[in-house]
Amino acid sequence: MTEPLLLRECPMPGVARLTFNRPDKLNALSTPMIDALDAELADIARDRGVRVLVLRGAGDRAFVAGADIGEYRGGPTEAFIAFQLRGRAVFDRLERMPQPVIAAVDGFALGGGFEIALCADIIVATTRAQFGLPEGRLGLCPGGGGTQRLVRAVGKYAAADMLLAGWRIDGPRARQLGLAADCVAPEQLDDMVMARARACLRVAPRAQAEMKRLLREGYDAPLPTAQSLEQEVLFRLYGSRDAGEGIDAFLDKREPVFTGE
Ligand code: COA
Repeated sequence: MTEPLLLRECPMPGVARLTFNRPDKLNALSTPMIDALDAELADIARDRGVRVLVLRGAGDRAFVAGADIGEYRGGPTEAFIAFQLRGRAVFDRLERMPQPVIAAVDGFALGGGFEIALCADIIVATTRAQFGLPEGRLGLCPGGGGTQRLVRAVGKYAAADMLLAGWRIDGPRARQLGLAADCVAPEQLDDMVMARARACLRVAPRAQAEMKRLLREGYDAPLPTAQSLEQEVLFRLYGSRDAGEGIDAFLDKREPVFTGE
């Protein structure tokens, strides 16, 4: 029996973990893998039992080394365009997941692999992580939002270095640029990711979903508009059951029990 290209596990209650599982090809994203990712994301987004999503790559060499370049050779332009449009839609779905998404990056996160990490909310890298957008070396450019999300994440000069010089950055540099929340030794990655996941589980889910939207939509809006958006969200959250519970629990010196209402 062949191994699934995308593995789904539950490493702790409330946490779903997806593993890109094609280690002999450095987890390069094939069309069936994109389809599997799309289906899992749709399912997880609807599942109120999943509070945190973790993404990682199988093996010790790569998170994901980009789109499967084998699918690029000699095919009709229409097929290439369809693949890129599909990839963009799936990455957008990932960015819009209601739950916090943590990318656990060990080894190569190149091209589409880096674009996936850029759609996550929190990146935890290892010292041997390698991030890059090498599409220019193929005569192409990123198509899954890489140029745009990267420049928003790190600014023009760091982004131009990675795009125009094809410069790869390692985990410590990603941490220094603010891309990675943490950079740890490979053997510490799982523990660090689970510590982040546990921390996410203590934050109210509705507040998380709203703050994700604020970060996304507020970023490109003028500051006063973004601030109004923030207050609209806050005023709505104040009336929620979870806010009542969170405030009561603090004052009663107990752990809150959030329901997402
Ligand atoms: N698409 C398809 N296959 C890929 C791949 C990709 N993006 N990245 C790696 N692979 C495959 C290799 O072809 C190789 O397969 P093989 O053993 O059947 O020949 C296997 O994964 C191991 O990769 P290899 O190149 O031998 O490892 P390396 O250590 O010498 O180099 C990289 C590692 C990541 C630097 C190199 O594989 C690479 O540059 N990959 C492409 C990255 C890229 O351009 N991504 C953007 C795509 S748009």
